[in-house]
Amino acid sequence: MGPGEIVCLLGSNGAGKTTLIRVVLGLLRPSGGEVWLFGRRVDGWMPHRIPRSGVGVVPEGRRLFPKMSVYENLLMGAHGRAAPAEVRARVEELSRRFPLLRERAGQPAGTLSGGEQAQVAIARALVGRPRLLILDEPSLGLSPRLCLEVFRLVREIHAAGTAVLLVEQNARQSLMVADRGYVLQKGQVVLAGTAADLRADPLVRRAYSLAEA
Ligand SMILES: Nc1ncnc2c1ncn2[C@@H]1O[C@H](COP(=O)(O)OP(=O)(O)OP(=O)(O)O)[C@@H](O)[C@H]1O
Ligand SMILES: [Mg+2]
Repeated sequence: MGPGEIVCLLGSNGAGKTTLIRVVLGLLRPSGGEVWLFGRRVDGWMPHRIPRSGVGVVPEGRRLFPKMSVYENLLMGAHGRAAPAEVRARVEELSRRFPLLRERAGQPAGTLSGGEQAQVAIARALVGRPRLLILDEPSLGLSPRLCLEVFRLVREIHAAGTAVLLVEQNARQSLMVADRGYVLQKGQVVLAGTAADLRADPLVRRAYSLAEA
């Protein structure tokens, strides 16, 4: 990925999208190849160093801590590295974009609706001011209206200068926001191109029902 790009990663269930993300995050060792982030080779790094190098992540299934409050979940996004005053200031700043963070600060995250949880997960990933945000199916399980809301957020985050790696089932929406994309099949890249190229590709159109797009 180039700096400030939005790249989307498409592929059917089991194609290897989450696995690729886990490799980038240092949670799995690649069987081959190398991982480079911001000009440094990072495969082999301990996983805790990756977020500190400027990567924020919304993991598959969001993985909020359900019994912890919204505010405590946000603190987890700082990975214990920022000073408490700085984290408070950052959460305050994010609350302007997500009023929910202030309104529900003390509520256990597990009692939020799906759409609300999606917002908290995205905000938590932004607490550390990442240069690269990785989202693994952030819109999964949301109504069409809330999906659109998530994609609007992704655009906004990108416009503020953050690169975005977006894994999505919603090919139509992700190819609307992305600069480029890759299609994975059984762990291999079978297609790569600009979002416009992929939107026009017969395989993509068939696989993702874009025919009428
Ligand atoms: N540690 C592992 N050992 C063996 N197989 C694994 C391991 N991790 C993942 N897999 C397999 O690799 C394949 C890819 O899984 P992955 O979770 O990356 O898919 P995905 O593209 O994210 O799919 P989905 O859209 O359903 O989330 C799956 O068949 C999975 O069972
Ligand atoms: Mg997955």
